[in-house]
Amino acid sequence: MVKIAPSILSADFCDLDREIRRVSSADWLHVDVMDGMFVPNITIGVPVVASVRKHTDLFLDVHLMVEKPGRYVESFAKAGADLLSVHLEADMPPAIRDALHAMEENGVKKAVALRPITAAEAVLPYLEQGLDMVLVMTVEPGFGGQKFMTDQLGKIRAIRSYIDQYCPSCDLEVDGGVNLETARLVTEAGANVLVAGSAVYGADAPAAMIAALRG
Ligand code: DX5
Ligand code: ZN
Repeated sequence: MVKIAPSILSADFCDLDREIRRVSSADWLHVDVMDGMFVPNITIGVPVVASVRKHTDLFLDVHLMVEKPGRYVESFAKAGADLLSVHLEADMPPAIRDALHAMEENGVKKAVALRPITAAEAVLPYLEQGLDMVLVMTVEPGFGGQKFMTDQLGKIRAIRSYIDQYCPSCDLEVDGGVNLETARLVTEAGANVLVAGSAVYGADAPAAMIAALRG
């Protein structure tokens, strides 16, 4: 079944408790952490994740768009993240491996994320070692509300076939520009977790949008 992960980047940060309750029928909650270095934007950090954790039982899917993400694995795990995604472009391969190892040690699920420029094959060494999720960006990371990049569909298909071959329990998440139209394209290509920020929070009835996206 397809899981829907609303991104709180599109929520009203002054009223996060209510904004999280508006999407309580979702499967996961997606939290976009940006450092102003790996991406041009700055969003939220460890203290906000710790507060969100106190307000919901939803699975917290924390997307780290930060340089050298290994520095923050333990802090986000202690704050209550259930899964952490680190970008393959955010550090050298040995440091990415160390970050994934730290996730294991801290009891959180481990994922790698790919910018649009990064080829599908880049996930292979990590997939062979075992991952809980691969995150494919379908916009340039940094901002919500951007247009879906259809040229990423081939990459989603390729990674789906690698997952089926090397790590069948691994989830495949797509993030960026997901709406009712593009949700169909990415699920047909093999994604099973869909992040949706503006589509869910911009809808009059977020719960109905979540159900429609899932369908
Ligand atoms: C972008 C973030 C996304 C963003 C998605 O860098 O990683 O999670 O919030 O927003 P929409 O669904 O509006 O493209
Ligand atoms: Zn994200």
